[in-house]
Amino acid sequence: MNTISNLNFSGKRAIIRVDFNVPLNSDFNITDDTRIRATIPTINKILKDGGSVILMSHLGRPKDGPTDKYSLKHIVNHLSNLLKTEVKFADDCIGESAKTMSANLKAGEVLLLENLRFYKEEEKGDVDFAKELASLANVYVNDAFGTAHRAHASTAVIAQFFPHAKYFGFVMAAEVESATKVMNHAAKPFVAIMGGSKVSDKILIIENLLERADTIIIGGGMAYTFFKAMGYEIGNSICELDKLDVAIDVLKKAEAKGVTIMLPTDNIVADEFNNDANILEIKGDHIGDGWMGLDIGTETQNDYTEEILKAKTVLWNGPMGVFEMESFEGGTKAIALACAAATKKGAFTLIGGGDSVAAINKYKMADKVSYVSTGGGALLEFMEGKVLPGIAAIES
Ligand code: 3PG
Ligand code: MG
Repeated sequence: MNTISNLNFSGKRAIIRVDFNVPLNSDFNITDDTRIRATIPTINKILKDGGSVILMSHLGRPKDGPTDKYSLKHIVNHLSNLLKTEVKFADDCIGESAKTMSANLKAGEVLLLENLRFYKEEEKGDVDFAKELASLANVYVNDAFGTAHRAHASTAVIAQFFPHAKYFGFVMAAEVESATKVMNHAAKPFVAIMGGSKVSDKILIIENLLERADTIIIGGGMAYTFFKAMGYEIGNSICELDKLDVAIDVLKKAEAKGVTIMLPTDNIVADEFNNDANILEIKGDHIGDGWMGLDIGTETQNDYTEEILKAKTVLWNGPMGVFEMESFEGGTKAIALACAAATKKGAFTLIGGGDSVAAINKYKMADKVSYVSTGGGALLEFMEGKVLPGIAAIES
């Protein structure tokens, strides 16, 4: 990969596409700064070399141009603290002020541009808009793995204006390295843990994993679509009735390919979607009328843990239950602990995709696994085997 390690940025002005699409609370305080912290080494490398940095990102999905709620000004202070240097802010990502502020940057200085998505041209991949952004700098760095699946002006189109000066940042490099390790060079046994509520969200990645994994562990709401497809009673559990044939197809393909699919053998069921509902742990596959499965049971937790501990490669995407509610967090917590234990035994463990990352953080296991991805949709598309526009634009 052509990473920033290959260049000395002394005297250069680099524009870096970052993914600062972070969650903010109602007071505009950042509730999870993982994505910002991840980019600090990239920024610091360029500053340390004697270069200057222009940062560009989107925040949220603004529909009607500039909107205070989606302004990147809300993250300036936090970013300044993390970088231990005052970050300048341009309240428009293109135009005169962005141009002047960029041109006046001195070595070691950082400028953050306002939200790219305040212009419709960003998501449309408009070439003129990309050219405007490109005119601000003489090197382009893409470190926005979380947005690499978007063919937007700042993530892909802009690269053509830097034919000999386009690089991957350290976040991109680490993400691609760990995802490639899992998908293309997995040490065996390779155990993939798939959770979350819908089979439809995960079907392409499951199909790709059927070619690679030794075991696919299934949990979360999507397990009930499998149960229903197998003819079991699932009560009021979540189910995609139009995906029953897809579930059957996965089971058949797995059998043909010798991939073990593990489904829950016991479940935590409740009579309401509520932490304080009546709750039972039931063995077997029959969930009666009026009950819904909201987590895997203890026996399943133990079986899944045992399988994960045998692995040399582990991929975890998606929770095992409604882990946001204490009554239904046991399964997800057990998986987080099992991933940490497997890592300790020498396995390579990759955790990715919004909810499982939230879970690994909740149980304070993030630094006990091999890699926690900053990508949600981007990681899933990478795992599906798709070419990500943000990666292709630098490589081409
Ligand atoms: C994300 O949070 O998934 C990325 O920042 C991409 O955002 P998007 O889904 O709005 O394109
Ligand atoms: Mg998204």
